[in-house]
Amino acid sequence: MTIDGPSGAGKGTVSRAVAKRLGWHYLDSGSIYRSLAIAVLEQGVFPEDEQAVADLARSMRLEFNCGDTLTVYLNGVDITRQLAAESTGNTASKIAALPKVRQVLLQKQRDFQRQPGLVADGRDMGSVVFPDAEYKVYLTASAGERAERRYKQLIEKGIHANLEQIRKEIDERDRRDQERKTAPLVMPSDAYYLDSSNKPVEQVIEEVLNLIH
Ligand code: DC
Repeated sequence: MTIDGPSGAGKGTVSRAVAKRLGWHYLDSGSIYRSLAIAVLEQGVFPEDEQAVADLARSMRLEFNCGDTLTVYLNGVDITRQLAAESTGNTASKIAALPKVRQVLLQKQRDFQRQPGLVADGRDMGSVVFPDAEYKVYLTASAGERAERRYKQLIEKGIHANLEQIRKEIDERDRRDQERKTAPLVMPSDAYYLDSSNKPVEQVIEEVLNLIH
């Protein structure tokens, strides 16, 4: 199953819950782009240097530990806390526009496909990475609501946040993710459209599960 949509639509929460209820595996593809962004920032590589970023993508060693919460190790170092930072997400969105980078990460993402099933969340899961997926969802919400959710998530994690700033960054990120040439965020024609604005998360999870049952 693929769950695509813009930043802050609740894809992570919904996908994790659906995977747990089904006993399926979970791929948070955004965390792969975010991990690469951390490597780029740490190593002082220019996010615009396509070849250097693609080389870094090829050489990085990522390990995911999917317990109740996701723990991510980059070259053996726990980077979970840095993953959620807005600066990480913004750099991730920039490097995600580079075709060579997406090409390197394509196989890394497909390698997550395992029995009995996979819930994959991202921007191009249903359109490019898993075009043959049996169930596809396009999960969205109004920009205002997505900004507010992101703000709450960051505050809960003890990360300083400013709602106005987040709203601006979400708008910018939406534009970049939708307008890039390679694998932009689109709704696959065979996807189920789900607007989660004003809906409790439990209801959204049930709606997704109903597609299968
Ligand atoms: O879902 P997220 O906010 O963690 O993703 C961070 C960025 O990574 C997002 O702005 C665009 C990029 N991304 C992508 O291009 N393709 C994906 N499948 C997942 C994320």
